[in-house]
Amino acid sequence: MIQRIFLTVLLAVLGSALAIAAGAQKPILDGYASQAKAEMSGFSGFSAERGKVFFLAKHDASAETPSCATCHTADPTKSGQTRAGKEISPMAVSKTPDRFTDSEKVEKWFQRNCQSVLGRACTAQEKGDFITFMASI
Ligand code: HEC
Repeated sequence: MIQRIFLTVLLAVLGSALAIAAGAQKPILDGYASQAKAEMSGFSGFSAERGKVFFLAKHDASAETPSCATCHTADPTKSGQTRAGKEISPMAVSKTPDRFTDSEKVEKWFQRNCQSVLGRACTAQEKGDFITFMASI
C-alpha cells in the first residue's frame, strides 16, 4: 500500500518534470502523438531513451550522413556542423530553447534529414521520440 502511494507520487512528480521540460515543444509533440496513434496500434507515448538510440544509430542509406549525429554531433548540447562546415546550434532544448517550436521548420528539416539519413520519411513516433530526447537534456 505504502509502496503504491510512493509510486503514484513519484510518477506524478516525474510526469510534471517531463511536462515542464517539454513545455514550449508541447503543441508539436501533441501533434505527433495524434499522428502516432493513427499510424500504429498500441502507441503508448514517446520515449527519450528511444529517441537517443535513434539519434545515435548508424543507418545504411548514405555513406556521407550515416546518422543524425553526423551533423548534430553525438552530444546534442554541443554545436554541430553541416557538411559544408557551417555551424549548427545545439539541438538540446536546454541550450537552444526555441528548438522544435515552429512546426513548419520542424517538418521541413525532418523531411530533408530523415530522407538523407534513413532514405525514407521518419514516422511520427520517431519524430516524437527525437524531440522528447532533445527536450530532456
Ligand atoms: C547533413 C547534416 C544533417 C544531418 C545528417 C541531420 N541534420 Fe538535422 N539539421 C541540419 C541543419 C543544417 C538544420 C537547420 C539548422 C538549424 O536548425 O540550426 C537541421 C535542423 C533539424 C531540425 C529542426 C530543429 C528545429 O529547430 O526545429 C530537426 C527536427 C532535425 N534537424 C532533425 C534531424 C534528424 C531526426 C536527423 C537524423 C535522421 C538529422 N536531423 C540529421 C543538418 C543535419
